[in-house]
Amino acid sequence: MIRDYHEFLEEVMIDSAAIQRRIEALGAQISKDYAGEEIVLVCILRGGVLFLADLIRQISVPINIEFMSVSSYGVGARQSSGQPRITLDVNSDIRNRNVMLVEDIVDSGHTIKAVVDFLSTRQPKSLRVCTLLDKYERREVDIEVDYVGFQIPNKFVFGYGLDIDEYYRNLPFIGSVDLTRYMASE
Ligand code: PRP
Repeated sequence: MIRDYHEFLEEVMIDSAAIQRRIEALGAQISKDYAGEEIVLVCILRGGVLFLADLIRQISVPINIEFMSVSSYGVGARQSSGQPRITLDVNSDIRNRNVMLVEDIVDSGHTIKAVVDFLSTRQPKSLRVCTLLDKYERREVDIEVDYVGFQIPNKFVFGYGLDIDEYYRNLPFIGSVDLTRYMASE
């Protein structure tokens, strides 16, 4: 049975209002940077869906949406294996188009690097990365992240698209996990 997250919530790291305010600002910046252009926003499933849905409502230039899936974490594992595999590709031709990858979090950077390497061979006009969360202390690969919602410390986080064993993605805030209490209540 799914546990009540209050059993292991350390703190609400970023509340819903702060997330929405930051997305408004990101959307305004992106709209300004791409004035007169169009963007294909590519959401990396599954964590990025809430961010994509809120972000596109704050962008005023014409957009398309696409979805990709990358498997990099083993079932039940909480560490990246560092060997991502593309399991779902975009549906349209991105050649000569502005592409922006939309992620909930960049951690080691392996996932986003794999997607950038994969798509850049198709000669998009531009290829940028937008992530809600940047856990920069954990980076293992050299990757440029163009738009960042929040830089966060090296803590295990959940909510607003991010899961714990596939649950809690629907919470409107980003919470951090008290690992001692999480293990104790498991
Ligand atoms: C998470 C997140 C990123 C990736 C970041 O995805 O959504 O895609 O991990 O980690 P990295 O920078 O260390 O590669 P996950 O594989 O957990 O899938 P999910 O989005 O379906 O939860």
